Amino acid sequence: QGGFNQNIEYIFKVVLIGDSAVGKSQLLARFARNDFSFDSKATIGVEFQTKTLLIDHKTVKAQIWDTAGQERYRAVTSAYYRGAVGALLVYDITKRQSFDHVVQWLEELRGHADGSIVVVLIGNKSDLETNRAVTVEDAKEFAERENIFFMETSALESTNVEAAFFMALSEIY
Ligand code: GTP
Ligand code: MG
Repeated sequence: QGGFNQNIEYIFKVVLIGDSAVGKSQLLARFARNDFSFDSKATIGVEFQTKTLLIDHKTVKAQIWDTAGQERYRAVTSAYYRGAVGALLVYDITKRQSFDHVVQWLEELRGHADGSIVVVLIGNKSDLETNRAVTVEDAKEFAERENIFFMETSALESTNVEAAFFMALSEIY
């Protein structure tokens, strides 16, 4: 289906949020470069990467923003969320505290992001099943109550990583 607009690029912003060390930067590395590192350094400030996707014969550029989970390394909040169509709110399935903090992250997001933003709750490190501290049921229930999507991922094993980012971009389909 050739068309005069087939080369037009659409740029969509997606943001990553969640506690430090839950795996935000490695999810991004896996998605953007099919890369993973065990000795990932804590993010300082804001970093972003882009990935070009073909959706409905259209070239779509996903611009993924990644910031520090640690308060002292975080950047200006309102600028971070501005214009984002999707958000991945990440916790670590082996760290109960990172799931308990999801409430605060969601509050911050709702205070700053557009009302139509698509939010996907992500339980990362699904490869560490033996150390699981958050059940799928608990997370599902929370997500349903908050009217957001939910998915478990593993940046290490590359499980559901593409699906998670595509879900965050579902608004544009
Ligand atoms: P901040 O930048 O401080 O906010 O942390 P972050 O959320 O970006 O975490 P990061 O991606 O740096 O990952 C933290 C640690 O978890 C690193 O040692 C990663 O290798 C590890 N990690 C990330 N994703 C996974 C995963 O899916 N499985 C396992 N087993 N380890 C992971
Ligand atoms: Mg990081």
